[in-house]
Amino acid sequence: GAPVEVNISKVEPGQLIRVEWRGKPVWVVRRTQEIIDGLPAIDAQLRDPDSVEPQQPAYAQNPERSIKAEYFIAVGLCTHLGCSPTYLPDTFGEQVEGVASGFFCPCHGSKFDMAGRVFQGVPAPLNLVIPPHQYIDDSTVLIG
Ligand code: FES
Repeated sequence: GAPVEVNISKVEPGQLIRVEWRGKPVWVVRRTQEIIDGLPAIDAQLRDPDSVEPQQPAYAQNPERSIKAEYFIAVGLCTHLGCSPTYLPDTFGEQVEGVASGFFCPCHGSKFDMAGRVFQGVPAPLNLVIPPHQYIDDSTVLIG
C-alpha cells in the first residue's frame, strides 16, 4: 500500500486522530508533557516496558516509542485478537496509580499505556505496533 500523508498541525493536546493505512487504523495522539513525563512511572506494571520485542521500528525503540515524544503513532489494533482498543484519556487515572490515560480493549480487557505498552495480566501478549513513519516537516508525517 501507498504511504499516507497526515497533517498533524490541528491535533490538540490529548486528542487522537485516526487515519487508514494498508486497511488498518492508525492513530496519531498528541501527548501532553504530563503524559510524557509519567510514562516511566508505570514501567513495573508493564510486560515489555523497554520495547524489547520488535513491535516498532528501531528509531521508535525508546521510552516514548516515537520519533517525537509529543506524537504517539500506532496501529490501532489490539495485539491479542485484533479488536480496536478504545482511547480513554482519563479513566486509567482512577484504575492504575500514576497513569493518566491509555487504551482499553473492550473485547477481552487488555490495557495499554500512552506509549502503547501492554500491561501485565491481560490477554494481549505484545505492545501495540508502531508503523514505519517519518516527518516531512513539523506539521506533516508520512505513515508507511
Ligand atoms: Fe483485545 Fe482480546 S482482542 S483483549
